[in-house]
Amino acid sequence: MSDNPYQDDRGNKDRSLGNPDGMGTMDSYRKSGAARPAAGGPYLIGDAMTGGYGKGADILHGCTIAVEQGEIAVIVGPNGAGKSTAMKAVFGMLDLREGAVRLDGQDITELSPQARVRQGMGFVPQTSNIFTSMSVEENLEMGAFIREDDYRATMEQVYDLFPILREKRRQAAGELSGGQRQQVAVGRALMTRPKVLMLDEPTAGVSPIVMDELFDRIIEVARTGICILMVEQNARQALEIADKGYVLVQGRNAHTGTGKELLADDEVRRSFLGG
Ligand SMILES: Nc1ncnc2c1ncn2[C@@H]1O[C@H](COP(=O)(O)OP(=O)(O)OP(=O)(O)O)[C@@H](O)[C@H]1O
Ligand SMILES: [Mg+2]
Repeated sequence: MSDNPYQDDRGNKDRSLGNPDGMGTMDSYRKSGAARPAAGGPYLIGDAMTGGYGKGADILHGCTIAVEQGEIAVIVGPNGAGKSTAMKAVFGMLDLREGAVRLDGQDITELSPQARVRQGMGFVPQTSNIFTSMSVEENLEMGAFIREDDYRATMEQVYDLFPILREKRRQAAGELSGGQRQQVAVGRALMTRPKVLMLDEPTAGVSPIVMDELFDRIIEVARTGICILMVEQNARQALEIADKGYVLVQGRNAHTGTGKELLADDEVRRSFLGG
């Protein structure tokens, strides 16, 4: 028997994955703590975003995506709807022609992705989200690239969250299973101790059991106070854990509501959830 009274308290053990000190300059957030009501709107919002790639046609048409502190927001929609494009826009990988991105009340529309990471954003893209020829641990070290302090404790927290990664830490990430690679990708993003974690299809290509397990870990991350903005192909399961859901169609907001509301909406069920 362990004498650790917290052993079964999975929900809170990784509290320190959150970011009590902050990496950036967001002093208002730091001083007032995670319980601060969203006075100036949602914690993170891509507001009425319009834009496309390079000089190409607009892909997003006045699209709005937001996540509140302590919440999980989920984006669903058909292939090619612009879900990944919306995530890239929020992360600064796309020039907006109209609209703005605000983080904790600050307009960050003009910031580079690197600067957004310093402001507390973590992003796991849909593809190429790990360094396959590097070991698991090297991937996590790469994730900590902006940190000048000692990141060993954060790495231990990532290993506590995903124990299989501790076991395989010397193995090349490319040799891992799909679900384990996604754990590496999420772990890498957590190494900067983000305040908001953006995940583009974290459960792509994994079995239903592995998907459930990944969702449980994502909920666990959210409980540490990190807000989650994620795109999901498994719409029904994702909306079940979502505080807020967005259905995107052709770069536009088609339906928005709580996860529960969208799951109960006849039109959403018929068109996007298979009835
Ligand atoms: N790098 C790019 N350059 C030009 N067009 C792109 C680029 N990436 C995506 N697109 C186009 O933008 C549109 C939206 O694509 P996006 O990848 O955002 O959709 P998605 O909703 O994420 O789809 P999926 O469910 O397949 O991941 C598509 O028409 C796609 O062809
Ligand atoms: Mg996509």
